[in-house]
Amino acid sequence: MYPVFKSLLFRLDAERAHHLATSTARFVQAISPSIIQPLYAFDHPVLHQKIWGVPFRNPVGLAAGFDKNAQLVRFWDKAGFGFCEIGSVSARASQGNTKPRAFRLPSDKALINRMGLNNDGAEEVSQRLKKLNKNMLPPLGVNIAKTHDPSIMGEGALLDFRHTYRVLAPLASYVVLNISCPNTAEGKTFEDPESLDALLTAILSDRKEIGANAPLLVKLSPTFSQHVVFDSAIEEILSIVEQHRIDGLVATNTASDRQQLVTSDAEIKRIGNGGLSGAPLTHRTTRLVKYLYEKTRGEIPIVAVGGIDSAETAYANIRAGASLVQLYTGLVYKGLGVVKKINKGLVRLLRQDGYKTISEAIGADVDVIPNPIREQVLAAIEV
Ligand SMILES: Cc1cc2nc3c(=O)[nH]c(=O)nc-3n(C[C@H](O)[C@H](O)[C@H](O)COP(=O)(O)O)c2cc1C
Repeated sequence: MYPVFKSLLFRLDAERAHHLATSTARFVQAISPSIIQPLYAFDHPVLHQKIWGVPFRNPVGLAAGFDKNAQLVRFWDKAGFGFCEIGSVSARASQGNTKPRAFRLPSDKALINRMGLNNDGAEEVSQRLKKLNKNMLPPLGVNIAKTHDPSIMGEGALLDFRHTYRVLAPLASYVVLNISCPNTAEGKTFEDPESLDALLTAILSDRKEIGANAPLLVKLSPTFSQHVVFDSAIEEILSIVEQHRIDGLVATNTASDRQQLVTSDAEIKRIGNGGLSGAPLTHRTTRLVKYLYEKTRGEIPIVAVGGIDSAETAYANIRAGASLVQLYTGLVYKGLGVVKKINKGLVRLLRQDGYKTISEAIGADVDVIPNPIREQVLAAIEV
């Protein structure tokens, strides 16, 4: 069915196609989202796991950006996702950048976007989330970012981020700080160590104050995985993340560079700036996930995202250390059916390798150097 719908969608500009697809989904959701369930549902106990004490029925989630304003959460549940992440949401509503701002690169199975954090703002999204019956839905991640406005800087940027956190964290199963959006109005991310340290200090003090218990994750950019040998920047970020005892990492956001594309240079030039997503990120994501898992000794759950569009790419990331995976561009090129295909394929691959649960396969391809202090503590507990 999707090839027919896709041929229609691909005749439209990428953002119009997105609107058409999401309007169709909203229509289905309004009538009865259960009507799609027989097509897309797939459940298998091998895929069940608890992360941060939160139960996940399968590891495949919707990546941030597809449902920025939480308008389709009930639909994603019936479409077979194990969880979904809404956002990025910012304190103030924003129109984002001028259009056109999303482009397909079909020969690379990729997208380039410079949406610019368009969203309805924290208050409106919180009202929408309050109407959902969270107990009936899979885990809901809330991805937050700084308002798309270059005049909000320094202390103002922190206050802006904190406001969104305070409004939305109580409604989330987990919160992601989008510190790596390549499309910010000020052309700067929160990934420089000083800004990140200040942000995490502020958010964690808010977390304590409001008594929010949603795990806190940080979303990284893929910039670092360009190199086979990772540079000191990522080490610094990781050391800040570990100092603050952040609960998880999301790797990765879209890429600002244009590595390994077959699309012509003239076409790339015509498109202009923006974040690259999809198949060109596949290996970079897995390499970064592996690096992060090794460096954090498998102690911090990792959500892999970037070029995942099949059971094989999902499994490679799980074996590299990801507890969960997400997709966006894969949905555009393969349609909703890809979620069930990935889950079914994962069951086959896990069984083939003799695993009884998905948790056993996480990090299977990585030699983790044990943390001596942790090992001593565990040994002491055993005694
Ligand atoms: C059109 C578009 C909009 C996106 N918007 C966001 C966003 O608001 N916040 C965010 O954290 N990531 C956003 N992303 C990044 C995705 O969540 C994901 O990290 C990236 O696309 C790589 O995954 P993929 O290859 O499966 O698309 C967006 C991606 C696309 C293509």
